[in-house]
Amino acid sequence: MLGDKKILIVSESGVNQNDLSVIFDFLGEHSLKAQFHNFLEMKNTENLQPEDLGLLVCERPREHIPLEKLLKDIHQAWGMTPVILLGDWEETNEEWDPYLKHMVIARKDLPLQYNTLVDTLHRAQRFNVAQESRSTTEGRPTHLFRSLVGTSRPVLAVRKMMDQVADKEVTVLIQGESGTGKEVVARNLHYHSSRRDHPFVPVNCGAIPAELLESELFGHEKGAFTGAVNSRAGRFEMAEGGTLFLDEIGDMPLHMQVKILRVLQEKSFERVGGNKTFKTNVRIIAATHRDLEKMIEEGAFREDLYYRLNVFPIEMPSLRERSEDIPLLINELVSRLESENRTSIRFNSGAIMSLCQHDWAGNVRELANLVERMAIMHPYGVIGVQDLPAKYRHVDVEAQEEFEQEFEEPGKPAVISAGDIALLPENGIDLKEYMTGLEQSLIQQALDDSGGVVARAAERLTIRRTTLVEKMRKYGMQR
Ligand SMILES: Nc1ncnc2c1ncn2[C@@H]1O[C@H](COP(=O)(O)OP(=O)(O)OP(=O)(O)O)[C@@H](O)[C@H]1O
Ligand SMILES: [Mg+2]
Repeated sequence: MLGDKKILIVSESGVNQNDLSVIFDFLGEHSLKAQFHNFLEMKNTENLQPEDLGLLVCERPREHIPLEKLLKDIHQAWGMTPVILLGDWEETNEEWDPYLKHMVIARKDLPLQYNTLVDTLHRAQRFNVAQESRSTTEGRPTHLFRSLVGTSRPVLAVRKMMDQVADKEVTVLIQGESGTGKEVVARNLHYHSSRRDHPFVPVNCGAIPAELLESELFGHEKGAFTGAVNSRAGRFEMAEGGTLFLDEIGDMPLHMQVKILRVLQEKSFERVGGNKTFKTNVRIIAATHRDLEKMIEEGAFREDLYYRLNVFPIEMPSLRERSEDIPLLINELVSRLESENRTSIRFNSGAIMSLCQHDWAGNVRELANLVERMAIMHPYGVIGVQDLPAKYRHVDVEAQEEFEQEFEEPGKPAVISAGDIALLPENGIDLKEYMTGLEQSLIQQALDDSGGVVARAAERLTIRRTTLVEKMRKYGMQR
């Protein structure tokens, strides 16, 4: 599993060392044994170089050794190395380098269990792969910019709108629930515009106290108010030539809405406490999760500003409406984790299927948080349905296991349908047979739903009545 890399088993007593070495040998791995007091010397005595070491297993010595020191030493000798701790290692509460903590891929009690060891070897392997891919991508600039992931119809529609509008100078209003990717769209629009070499400046209008918002946006002159000891440029000036992203515009107080409207109309503004007029060349992109039209009715949002902003509206779909994008999004979120945090995780098909059925009130942000949380709890692990927090479990664990067993039986393929995605079983399927079965089942449902009225069932399936009758005859189906 670890290829040419070796496993270093460090112990003081040597008792468990032999057992472990036998198991590793049995699994086809190369292992080396070392004493706790001098294992670091193996680098020289055995010429064990960083690229040769695939895993380090360390049993707790009798004398107390701070874990941080151990990991630091290992890191110094071999770099980021996956470590399994055996026995009861105490951790100090002090804050220490989180990267070092990432090296510990498992803690195991003695005696060891064979099956959990195999799982741990898998983790070690993924740890090493992630490290290697990291070292080859290191040095590349990391963009704040991320593309909008998804192949579902609603996402394709959003991307098409983005293509149409990115390099135009028009104001864009992005609406949609929290966590749907409004900021991702705003950054993409900027990145694909001729302004891309100028700043993208986000302002969260909801997070800045109303009384500070004006000076935040337009800047202020010295002495404009108590505390204004120096003059200061605002976000409009900072964004000159680029894009100003007015996030949560629905939270902007009415008196500020008037001022923004004026800037949009006149392309100029004054700093707070100043009388010099600044000309501005910024493109405005605004976003909100609120229903602005309803706010207008309630008198909380200015209608004239709304029409100024809403030149080109983009509505973000909720994650519920595009659950077929979930597997792709998970991939994207995991690769982000791999490149940013030096950790990784995988989800098995059952877990993905279960997540596709979740309601995702918090949309992609909620999914991103879940992926991160799973990676903290099970670094380098493979997440199954049973590992998901209870509210994300929508698939019966037993059913999933039975289903997996069914895979093993040749000639009995099955497909799990998860929301809008169908997962291809490992053994493949007979596509024609599967499609026929699916067609029959949907026709039957349509017939049942419409009380056997063929015309209505045909309508539900968006096919002609005669076509439906023909299909029913072909399949020998009754109304
Ligand atoms: N389609 C997508 N592809 C990749 N990542 C996405 C996508 N949509 C959202 N994300 C990620 O989800 C998180 C939330 O996205 P973003 O901040 O853009 O949402 P938002 O609509 O502005 O949410 P809020 O209203 O809570 O501010 C971010 O980490 C973002 O990178
Ligand atoms: Mg946002």
